Amino acid sequence: MTDAIDEYFAFALELVKSAGNLITDYTSGCKDFKLKSSDIDLVTEIDKKVEETLISGLSAKFPDHKFIGEESAFEGVKCILTDEPTWIIDPVDGTLNFIHGYPSSCISVGLVINKEAVAGIIYNPIVNQLFTANKGQGAYLNGRQIHVSQVKEVSKALISFEAGTTRDEEKQRIVFENFKMIVTKAHGARTVGSAALNMAMVALGGSDAYFEFGIHAWDIAAGDIIVREAGGVCIDPAGGPLDILSRRVLCASSQELAQELASMLHQYYPERD
Ligand code: IPD
Repeated sequence: MTDAIDEYFAFALELVKSAGNLITDYTSGCKDFKLKSSDIDLVTEIDKKVEETLISGLSAKFPDHKFIGEESAFEGVKCILTDEPTWIIDPVDGTLNFIHGYPSSCISVGLVINKEAVAGIIYNPIVNQLFTANKGQGAYLNGRQIHVSQVKEVSKALISFEAGTTRDEEKQRIVFENFKMIVTKAHGARTVGSAALNMAMVALGGSDAYFEFGIHAWDIAAGDIIVREAGGVCIDPAGGPLDILSRRVLCASSQELAQELASMLHQYYPERD
């Protein structure tokens, strides 16, 4: 299977790199957008073009493979995860950043087989950061191997999180509670506006943990394998195993930090994908 995964990954990597050109045409922002689930959940024609480019390229080469894509889901395609090789795609993660011209957006592509992420690509073409991982082969930034930090305690951790793309009052209350907890207890708080890039930062060792309630499978599939191959852990924010369709994620540089943070978080359970 490793040889097959290597072949799938190599092909996907070239597609992702070339699709990056669609994003770099808009480094100053893309003002033409539409609303999805709320006035801060947005989509552009570029999101759609990147997703179409990736799905048509991958399905032509690997006709048996399945897909879960952010924009296809928005168009009504059901998110069904079987044991078959499934590409989970966020064509532009950090769409709000992309629209504003804030240079933290990426293409996120994870390959899941038997419900386990086995390869991942997170590519921010604007600042030329390419994070990759294949199961058992480590995690890389632009070809250089990366590792999570050694941090094991919340009091020494730089923790990132996101407010997400909903104005739901209960969800926002939890976001504020958790922000207060981090500001009070941790080294610092960060929010970069892309779930995938938050996970890439944990893999890089630049931040020590990231959590969010309300993300989708396409935001975290690639990050899951990249963080784990960099030596980190990905769990449910209440401390159990990660369920990629649960819309909840916590990743960290160590099991100790992950569990301590999980025990301190105010919990929120969004409707599942
Ligand atoms: C969003 C970003 C954002 C996170 C949201 C995601 P999108 O993805 O990752 O940081 O807070 O939960 O939906 O819509 O830009 O692809």
